[in-house]
Amino acid sequence: MEREQAIERISRLSEEIRQHNYRYYQLAEPVISDFEFDALLKELESLEKEFPDLVSPNSPTRRVGGDITKEFNTVFHRYPMLSLENTYSEGELRDFDARVTRLLGEDCEYVCELKIDGVSISLIYEEGRLVQAITRGDGVRGDDVTVNVRTIHSIPLWIEQGDIPGLFEVRGEIFMPRAGFDRMNRQREDEGESPFANPRNATAGTLKTQDSQLVARRPLDIFVYYLLGDNIGGETHFDRLNMLKSWGMKVCDVRARCAGIEQVLAFIHEVGESRNQLGFDIDGVVIKVNSLAHQEKLGYTAKSPRWAIAYKYKAEEARTRLVSIDYQVGRTGTVTPVANLESVPLSGTIVKRATLHNADVMAALDVRPGDYVFVEKGGEIIPKITAVDLLSRHSGSGPVQFLTHCPECGSVLFRNEGESAWYCPNETGCPPQIKGRLVHFIARKAMNIESLGEGKIEMLFDNGLVSDVADLYELTEKDLLGLEKVIRSEDGKEKKLSFREKTVQNILEGIDKSRSVPFERVLFALGIRYVGETVARKLARHYHSVDNLMKADAGDLITVDEIGDKIAGSVLDFFQNPLNLELITRLRNHGIQFTSSHEEAAQSNILNARLFVVSGVFTTFTRDGIKKAIEANGGKVSSSISSKTDYLLAGENMGPEKRRKAETLGVKIISEGDFIRMISA
Ligand code: IVH
Repeated sequence: MEREQAIERISRLSEEIRQHNYRYYQLAEPVISDFEFDALLKELESLEKEFPDLVSPNSPTRRVGGDITKEFNTVFHRYPMLSLENTYSEGELRDFDARVTRLLGEDCEYVCELKIDGVSISLIYEEGRLVQAITRGDGVRGDDVTVNVRTIHSIPLWIEQGDIPGLFEVRGEIFMPRAGFDRMNRQREDEGESPFANPRNATAGTLKTQDSQLVARRPLDIFVYYLLGDNIGGETHFDRLNMLKSWGMKVCDVRARCAGIEQVLAFIHEVGESRNQLGFDIDGVVIKVNSLAHQEKLGYTAKSPRWAIAYKYKAEEARTRLVSIDYQVGRTGTVTPVANLESVPLSGTIVKRATLHNADVMAALDVRPGDYVFVEKGGEIIPKITAVDLLSRHSGSGPVQFLTHCPECGSVLFRNEGESAWYCPNETGCPPQIKGRLVHFIARKAMNIESLGEGKIEMLFDNGLVSDVADLYELTEKDLLGLEKVIRSEDGKEKKLSFREKTVQNILEGIDKSRSVPFERVLFALGIRYVGETVARKLARHYHSVDNLMKADAGDLITVDEIGDKIAGSVLDFFQNPLNLELITRLRNHGIQFTSSHEEAAQSNILNARLFVVSGVFTTFTRDGIKKAIEANGGKVSSSISSKTDYLLAGENMGPEKRRKAETLGVKIISEGDFIRMISA
């Protein structure tokens, strides 16, 4: 690859990976499978190997994990929580074995364990008491979620064994067994809540919940797999697992000591055959060098131990027949084709539907009803079709034409130039769009009306009580009491759901509370196309009020960081629509925030568009936190130093290269303390 191309590709890959990391670690809403994610990361790693001078200190290959959420106290890990090198190939496992034996100068024994697909946690015990439970966070600092973790029954709160170290740390994986997950999801659906996509998302979401009572009701469990501390004893990793077990910790029994790589591969095959019967999700097998002396000799790279590797199973694939294609209309009118399949078991569940994404994907796959197709499960609940088995296609079928009219309201669909999605233009009359906007409005990151869920919104809409978001604020007790819905479960049984006094009270209180949600989230809640959480925040911080935003023209809008022509056009369209203006007036009359509060506004412009480059590690901020603080105060952040840079914000361990470059270009170097003084001036 040419250097120019490499620069471009590295920057694209880094941004893509950053986005996926954010979705995975922060939102717990991954959109691609681990396999696809790892492929991106591997591509970036190999490009960086080829062009070492293009490696940025902010490259995702240098990072161990995700960013930190601010909801819980952020605390440092005593020992960084490293990740594992991973592979999908047996050949690379053999390479790992060859490397280990070469470095050790002798053969070694391995321990194979399951790679549990959950959320990793660090548990700290002092004098036998559980004192702290910290999520992985970015590997250096994580969230203190002790209150939540204490509710998990399989984690001992104190250990009564006499002979235990005064201070030690246990690492493990919190997960949700499948049976509990299915039960919980069924109950959520019965109560009108949206189901979780998979057990891992449910676990991550639960651990970040601030109501520990709710956590206690969720079926969380743990397997521990690593013991750390000074003077712990034991000569092997296997001894330590046994020690943990004897202290009452839950260690997974599916594990083995293996005399060499052949036995490791045999274990991997055996587990691969039976993984669907485990009752919980795994995504691979972890192979660890057993002797602690060997582990010490092998040591660590910056990101992972040299004495361990994870073998990941490829997503399972199934072959089945495509019966028909449905079209779903989303909140913004996007029409998504969905395949109805002949039921087929896949990774422990029965698959009946798969997404076809959009007209372009559908055309590229050239799927036709009656075809045999291959389906694969990524991170999401809805599997996807990866290919058509052309050899078994019956003659006589022709390519499927995408719909021309909305399946819900009959409007003629349109497509924007350069986009793959088809849209239904009937924003105000198309039921799934109306319901979708309502569901988006009440979501946690928008108005956070927890007392309403998708099912309840549907009931309100079906009963003609709400048809836009302002209607929510006009609901009365009389409207809601006794409202009924018949729910039919998969086995055909019918159940009636009816609103009682307590539910009604909760709903009304939840709606009332949303009046204090800050402007930036209100702006996001309005559901303007392309205005996600970040863009809404940027617009709100720039304009401070909806009135200012409404006055902005395209030229003005694109001066805001991250706003380009597409978003600007969408914002203008939204405010040009008289129906939206009326909606805002009604919401305003109901006391919804359309102006930034004083604190939000006060944070806004002190840095006056100064350009910062951030490098190193900080004490009071996470790396992302300090960037957010710069932006929140009107500054801008860039990843590389140039003559346009105003300040290099230097943390600890900043590379000498950066300093030299800043000095050569005359860029001012400031410390974290200087920065804090700047923004509190
Ligand atoms: S050992 C220093 N063992 O996989 C070694 N990790 O990709 C630390 N995981 O962050 C990890 N099951 O969350 C280890 N039996 C197991 C595991 C396991 C799941 C997770 C863990 C880790 C990630 C690395």
